[in-house]
Amino acid sequence: MEYSRTENELVMLPGPVTVSPRILRALSKPVINHRGEEFAALYRECVELLKYVFQTGNDIFVLSGSGTCAMEAAVGNVLGIGHGSKVVTIANGKFGERLKEIAERYGVVVPVEFEWGLPIDLEAVKRALEEEKEVRAVTLVHNETSVGMLNPAREIGKLARKYDALFILDCITSIGGTDVPVDKLGVDIAIVGSQKCLGMPPGLSAVSVSERAWEVIEENKGKVPYYMDLQAYKRSFEKGQTPYTPALPLFFALKEALEIIKEEGLENRIKRHKSMAEAVRAAVLSLRLDLFPRLDEFSEYSNTVTAVRIPNGITDDQLRGGMKKLGIVIAGGQERLKGKIFRIATMGNISARDILTAIQALEGVLAKHGVIESVGTGVEAARKTFGL
Ligand SMILES: Cc1ncc(COP(=O)(O)O)c(C=O)c1O
Repeated sequence: MEYSRTENELVMLPGPVTVSPRILRALSKPVINHRGEEFAALYRECVELLKYVFQTGNDIFVLSGSGTCAMEAAVGNVLGIGHGSKVVTIANGKFGERLKEIAERYGVVVPVEFEWGLPIDLEAVKRALEEEKEVRAVTLVHNETSVGMLNPAREIGKLARKYDALFILDCITSIGGTDVPVDKLGVDIAIVGSQKCLGMPPGLSAVSVSERAWEVIEENKGKVPYYMDLQAYKRSFEKGQTPYTPALPLFFALKEALEIIKEEGLENRIKRHKSMAEAVRAAVLSLRLDLFPRLDEFSEYSNTVTAVRIPNGITDDQLRGGMKKLGIVIAGGQERLKGKIFRIATMGNISARDILTAIQALEGVLAKHGVIESVGTGVEAARKTFGL
């Protein structure tokens, strides 16, 4: 039986996320000329606000494509086509592996890989950079969404700098919800996706490019992905345009989403994300469930998505299906983690009310299947973290 028939489910996926009505309203604005002054002003304002969210003085471009489009823009522009450029790709989850797969199409990959959810061994990264000569770039996923883990961007950034390699950081699910001081971390190319911590619908991504990265990219003139040619984006931006037709309604939504972030204040927003994830962790631990990632001194639990092992006595379908019947959408594990973990995201404009609702629902579903004896412990643990 369906218990919930709401038009707006509480979407706690690690993207797409629940979109606030203010942003939904912005999506329905009338179309404007994408080659006119109005669009130029809109795009420039978005970029200024993105610089605030990225904490960078570097150039930023908005691409009409999802996060993977920005991943390919970063890798393809830095490595170029047909140069045989060397790249160290670090992976401890699905998206680190995706960066490797993209890099394989452009350059020569030196993979540094770990079991999904295990910490990155910095010594292994150092060894790879030491042994290989002339590594052009290092790729890392900051917040590895597939396993709910925050990877050590600062330490990898330092290593990349030491070995004179560019640092490409996938911040798709960290920027806007976790402190990502792009310039201080020495990130040459940082990328974000719209449907994650920015709280927007899917369809846009943004890329920041450092001076150091430009020097390399400019050498690859004409030997980069056509649609994601960052030099073309740079030329167009001078006129307040994108090289090809932008996804206009999403640009209106982006401005609204970024204004919401500015109003909340980046620092407050990061604190809110952190406290929401802490509440989820406190709740699941109080229910004697296990968090999935294994941490070392350099890695952290994600502030934006919590990965939990599916306990004995309940299947993935029963767990997530039960939540869905109550109008709450959470994520399962991906690929090899399918049926093994579930993930509750706290990205975007998620509030304490949403967390308490989701935890209460989770307890109900677990109790129904006999995984826990009684309900209330999880909500109480979450409530306490909010000081209530
Ligand atoms: C860390 C990370 N990188 C890349 C992607 C891919 O983004 P998209 O699905 O928007 O193409 C995702 C999507 O979940 C992600 O979480």
